[in-house]
Amino acid sequence: MKPRRFYAPSPRAATNPPAARTTSATTQISTLMTLEPATAVADFQPSEAVQRIQRTSLRVQQPQCKGDLVSLAMGEPDFDTPAQVRAAAARALEDGFGGVASPGDVLITQGGTAGLSAAILGVVNPGDKVVIPDPTCSLYADLVSMAGGITVPVPLADDLHWDLEALATALEGAKMFVFCNPSNPTGIVHSRRELEALADMVAGTDTLILSDEAYSDLVYTPEPFTSALEIEALAGRTIYCQTFSKSYAMTGWRVGYLWGPSDVIASAARVHNTFNGSMNQAVQYAALTALKTCGPDIERMHASYALRRELMASGLQQIPGLTVSSPEGAFYLFPKYDVELPAAAMVAHLRNHGVAVRPGSEFGRNGEYHLRLSYAASSAAITAGVERLAAGLAELR
Ligand SMILES: Cc1ncc(COP(=O)(O)O)c(C=O)c1O
Repeated sequence: MKPRRFYAPSPRAATNPPAARTTSATTQISTLMTLEPATAVADFQPSEAVQRIQRTSLRVQQPQCKGDLVSLAMGEPDFDTPAQVRAAAARALEDGFGGVASPGDVLITQGGTAGLSAAILGVVNPGDKVVIPDPTCSLYADLVSMAGGITVPVPLADDLHWDLEALATALEGAKMFVFCNPSNPTGIVHSRRELEALADMVAGTDTLILSDEAYSDLVYTPEPFTSALEIEALAGRTIYCQTFSKSYAMTGWRVGYLWGPSDVIASAARVHNTFNGSMNQAVQYAALTALKTCGPDIERMHASYALRRELMASGLQQIPGLTVSSPEGAFYLFPKYDVELPAAAMVAHLRNHGVAVRPGSEFGRNGEYHLRLSYAASSAAITAGVERLAAGLAELR
């Protein structure tokens, strides 16, 4: 049997954290890991939990980019991580810092993904009902499935905000409601009024709220963003999930946190400790520096996203047969098209026209006949991508 080969970062890499989009490191790791032979254990079967996900997951793997392809499919910033954040990580590594993080109502997690995983696996039992909007971030349904829970997707209203009546009905007897605000994939920002309506729906029940606010710094509505944490009537039942991936362009650093009732956080911490272990301290220092110093960086990136959002929205609005969603937040637009072709097939067709986007159906059945476009891309890529999308759609109409 060939020895397995694992990627270990060189000491040089440790003192010079990557300047650019750090997910490339993750790709590198998976490329360098050789996992053969896959069949060393006879008749190996993935666990029931994994098989449940395989049976039910809507997430699709995009093929490798080949040839002349403009990608508007990525859900991560295309900015460099701010320099002072990289420097803080390098300093912490050089100093060999060894302090102790204080426990409490906050759990530092390996990105938002690990925070969401810990929160859901720490709360949901087999058979528990978990309500999610449809469409929403596809990770939620997979995690509920892994926990053995039952996902109840609630179709959104036509304007992609919550259908409050449908949500109230679905929430009856629910263990948890999971949502993101601003929303991936719709780019909608749920207002204070919507959150207050949610608080009324769950008042007096045992339903927990998992509010994933990964994009809370990327809001373009005239009224300021309202976090679920600001809704007094949701206090005591809200688990807040945050990540440094989006606001601080730190996707590859894998850092985020949960904040919520201490007993729920303790349960999530047990999951996180078991799955992930504790966080790399250099990264924690970098994250602390990001929190303390990156206000101007967030403003700079926000201003740039705002221009790209305008560029993409106005380009899409010119395309016959597309209904363009309100670009309220995050860095996504979620247009609906009027051709009778399922979204996965439409995405494949558009790739042949040189533009990569994601199928709306990946985010829930109600996302069918929609496309998710990311404007975390250069202006040139947005302009070219929108033109190619227009050409691809025109061919089918
Ligand atoms: C809504 C939402 N939550 C959480 C995440 C996870 O982010 P990360 O694991 O990089 O922190 C993403 C990533 O795209 C997302 O869109």
